[in-house]
Amino acid sequence: MAEALINSLTATSLFDLTGVVAVITGGGTGIGLMLASTLIANGANVYITGRRQDVLERITRIYNQAAAKTPGRGRLVALRGDVTQKSEAIRLADEIGKREPSGVTVLFNNAGILIGGVHPPTEATAKAFFESYFNGVTQDEFTQTYATNAMSNPAGGSNELGQTSHDNVEFPFEVPANKKGGSARDIGAVALALIANWFINGETVLVDGGTLLVHPSSW
Ligand SMILES: NC(=O)c1ccc[n+]([C@@H]2O[C@H](COP(=O)([O-])OP(=O)(O)OC[C@H]3O[C@@H](n4cnc5c(N)ncnc54)[C@H](OP(=O)(O)O)[C@@H]3O)[C@@H](O)[C@H]2O)c1
Repeated sequence: MAEALINSLTATSLFDLTGVVAVITGGGTGIGLMLASTLIANGANVYITGRRQDVLERITRIYNQAAAKTPGRGRLVALRGDVTQKSEAIRLADEIGKREPSGVTVLFNNAGILIGGVHPPTEATAKAFFESYFNGVTQDEFTQTYATNAMSNPAGGSNELGQTSHDNVEFPFEVPANKKGGSARDIGAVALALIANWFINGETVLVDGGTLLVHPSSW
């Protein structure tokens, strides 16, 4: 009995997402792709949405080809859709509902935009942040941003797998854990814990490398 218990508590067993169906808005890039790649690595089937069909299709092709080489991996499914449109939310829900009659296990409302050519603050002062993030955007950009999501931070570039890279980014504030910011492993580990553990509910989990500890007003 103890052996069976121990076997059920291995990391592979705890985080086996076979049978999990996930939907990730904005899942073709950045943090959404970090989530999507972690989930398929552990057996989930993941619908990724976004406005650019070509981006979704390229990512789906690359990751599904890689996943198909190992039994037990999940798959990505690309679905174009715009989260700012109510009609699109209904259309996507209908489309996914037809393909997944047993329902969806988890939804990540991740899609977001950073527009207006915002330049990072020149120094870590309230005045510099106000100049960049408030004065730096027009009313139209401000409205569009909040029609989509909360403000996005400059995320850096992405590599050939579409994963975000912070190699050339200088953060204008201190990130205690890591000067280069978080990775797919940091985002993926949190996602696995939240999906696998059905007793965690209503929590806000900060994946900020301890930034809040040194910049208490950053949240
Ligand atoms: N990166 C950070 O440091 C950071 C920090 C705090 C919060 N966040 C939040 O985390 C989320 C992801 O950020 P990220 O850095 O990964 O950004 P990202 O790489 O720019 O990804 C954003 C994704 O959202 C999609 N999207 C944008 N507008 C959409 C719309 N109207 N309908 C459907 N999809 C849309 C984009 O695809 P299309 O352009 O093809 O539509 C893209 O795939 C955002 O909500 C952001 O606010 C990020």
